[in-house]
Amino acid sequence: MPHTPSPRSPELDGLAAVVTGGASGIGLATALLLAHRGARVAVLDLAPDALPATGSEALFPIRCDVTDDASVRAGVARAVDRLGGLDILVNNAGIGAQGTVADNDDAEWRHVLDVNVLGIVRTTRAALPHLRASRHAAVVNTCSVAATAGLPQRALYSASKGAVQSLTLAMAADHIREGIRVNCVNPGTADTPWIDRLLSSADDPAAERTALNARQPTGRLVSAEEVAAAVVYLASPAAASVTGTALAVDGGMQGLRLRPEGG
Ligand SMILES: NC(=O)c1ccc[n+]([C@@H]2O[C@H](COP(=O)([O-])OP(=O)(O)OC[C@H]3O[C@@H](n4cnc5c(N)ncnc54)[C@H](O)[C@@H]3O)[C@@H](O)[C@H]2O)c1
Repeated sequence: MPHTPSPRSPELDGLAAVVTGGASGIGLATALLLAHRGARVAVLDLAPDALPATGSEALFPIRCDVTDDASVRAGVARAVDRLGGLDILVNNAGIGAQGTVADNDDAEWRHVLDVNVLGIVRTTRAALPHLRASRHAAVVNTCSVAATAGLPQRALYSASKGAVQSLTLAMAADHIREGIRVNCVNPGTADTPWIDRLLSSADDPAAERTALNARQPTGRLVSAEEVAAAVVYLASPAAASVTGTALAVDGGMQGLRLRPEGG
């Protein structure tokens, strides 16, 4: 008998999730998909008002800056209060940086590492007591293909995402015996407001978009929804035996070596 999936598949019913940076792009797509699958979701973001009005009663915007420990502690406490617990933490808030090692000053290095790496540390630290109390605890970090491929003009950003991948492994080892799984997703270039900003600052945005598309073996950017599907898989009970992994959602960018077309 063929199985017909229901339009709303509630496999996350009863679970509570926090998504940092959930008001835009990959985080927003993840928050929406988690809610669609039945979870209640707190969106912790610097700009929670950017969260579009979805009419969903399962989404709670909370203002939070992941570079500020007090703000993170208060944001997680509010989320737990509102949701009645915490099972899933998606550490997604992140910012970019362009340039070689010669181009970013110490202040920018400190700031990007503060958001992209210490943001995960602070949020996970605040969430851990609640995750330990969950019978289905999962952490998913948003990493990047920049962690594992040498991309030009991305020294600082790549260093931050390399740290995210190593941190994911270390956290997975530290917390497995507490019943907490930790994984990351490694997107290729994803079509989000971040990339819109990057393109609008380029000398020739159309040529830049063509170059970014061409860098993906699939010939197109990854969508935020495609990354969200991977995050939600890793967060779900279906991935109960998956921990310490990096799941590439990159259109083949990390693993494939294509010959030029026609070659
Ligand atoms: N877009 C890409 O090509 C791409 C590729 C690989 C990985 N990523 C990663 O995906 C994640 C999301 O990127 P996106 O493209 O959706 O970006 P985005 O700019 O669309 O969204 C990022 C969100 O994070 C929030 N944020 C930024 N700093 C914050 C802080 N200090 N505290 C709380 N929230 C903060 C922003 O307000 C925003 O809502 C990032 O970690 C990024 O490094 C993006």
